[in-house]
Amino acid sequence: MNSEVLQSLRAVSTHIGSLAELFAADPTREWLVLDACGIHADFSRQHVNQQLFEQLLSAAESVDIASRFKAMGSGAIVNATEQRAVGHLALRGSATDSAMSQLAQLQLQRANKLSNDIRGGVHRGSTGKPITDIVNIGIGGSDLGPVMAHAAMRRYADGPRIHFVSNIDAAHLDDCLSMLAPSTTLFVIASKTFTTLETLSNARRARLWLENAGIESAAHLVAVTAAPGEAVQWGVLEAQCLHFFDWVGGRFSLSSVIGFSVLCAIGEHDFGALLEGMREMDAHVLNAPLEQNLAVVHGLMWWLNSSVLQRTSIAVVPYSHDLRFLPSFLQQLMMESNGKSVHVDGSPVEAPTSPVVWGATGTDSQHAFFQMLHQGPQVIPVEFVGVVASTGSDDNAHLQLNANLFAQAQALAAGKFDAQGHKNFAGNRPSTVLMLNELSPRQLGALIAMYEHSCAVQGWLMGINSFDQWGVELGKVLAQDVAAELETGTLSAQKTMTHPLLEWYLRARKKLLPK
Ligand code: F6P
Repeated sequence: MNSEVLQSLRAVSTHIGSLAELFAADPTREWLVLDACGIHADFSRQHVNQQLFEQLLSAAESVDIASRFKAMGSGAIVNATEQRAVGHLALRGSATDSAMSQLAQLQLQRANKLSNDIRGGVHRGSTGKPITDIVNIGIGGSDLGPVMAHAAMRRYADGPRIHFVSNIDAAHLDDCLSMLAPSTTLFVIASKTFTTLETLSNARRARLWLENAGIESAAHLVAVTAAPGEAVQWGVLEAQCLHFFDWVGGRFSLSSVIGFSVLCAIGEHDFGALLEGMREMDAHVLNAPLEQNLAVVHGLMWWLNSSVLQRTSIAVVPYSHDLRFLPSFLQQLMMESNGKSVHVDGSPVEAPTSPVVWGATGTDSQHAFFQMLHQGPQVIPVEFVGVVASTGSDDNAHLQLNANLFAQAQALAAGKFDAQGHKNFAGNRPSTVLMLNELSPRQLGALIAMYEHSCAVQGWLMGINSFDQWGVELGKVLAQDVAAELETGTLSAQKTMTHPLLEWYLRARKKLLPK
């Protein structure tokens, strides 16, 4: 967005008054409340008046969001810096490009068949015993979406137990394997590129664990990848290699076969409902007018807070134990997508891009970081996510949970004056409340798709490419160099800023080695 538009939005925002004043003039602010696909979205406690809202909508109109979504669905090269299409709409049948949709459909059928065989005890590995445990080995987009969705779908899981291992720290896999039996365990190696160091290192150790137990490993390995050739070469049977495609970004890949572990947990019917919920949200976002469009209004509010009002972080607080991994999923989705400093054409951005996305569940976080949210000098917008229908066994506990959510939104917005400064709540702190009717597969799908589209909308407003992630490359390359130096014990002659630290580490490590 150009600087004049940002300046003008900032100028309007300085005159809108406090939330208390806005509510005094318009007690419901219902024009900031949307309902779509079973999600009740209340943006009324954001720092927005009618004039600012209209200007935000004009900003959205100026970047022609409808054509951008259309381009995405048509298979156009939307991700210019990687020369790739951005095809997650095709994964759930919402794209116009039929070739992409057919490819995705075929792989979903293969995934359903394999999952049904595992769940039904037809696929028994090489030991003749049914598979009781599945370990998903993946990282980033090949982990965070499945982890989040698996936890959120706890009440629907009736298949093998699912475990997730991501970290190259061997403690992660050790910890997981310590409770499993090799003869009844299957590993899903989830990696788009099939080159990721962490995943391949864990996969190698997992295979060794099987072989050391005398198990013929191939039948216990499934790959989920856009590089099937590499997976087969590595040792995965072709029939157990599920494909996705270079046009699916890792953080947008949950609706691809990357969701295989979730599929094995909840089965074809419920995973299908999750995709159906995504499709329903896609249709809403592709068709609704801007002011009623959940992903557009959500994206505008995040953009307002981060790029216009320059608030550096957003706290995501799900009031739901089952949604506890939503903040980490959104952290990657938003920060890897929109943490950029240049526009699509390489010119520098004029405003902050992605906020720091962080958070944890309510009510736990009320006893951890809410002190700062209420009384710290920085204003940190909060995104509350709640569920109307109880997800636990005690309906009154659920009511208490939601009472806390609503109370926190009220306290942040209204505050409470106290002449003693340390007891004063300034209030006027913005928040959004998203309430799902129920935490069902369909509603979860709608929520995830809403966030995917909001993320893209924010990127278009920022003028950046949300679909590449060059910022993760440098660290990966340097880690390889450093690992080579540490393994040989010989540091390169070139003195880097971390050279003294590496020297110290080598000395400290030497002291630990047996004499
Ligand atoms: O962190 C960088 C990244 O490339 C993410 O975008 C991706 O989700 C993750 O690594 C895992 O990559 P892969 O699925 O290729 O193993």
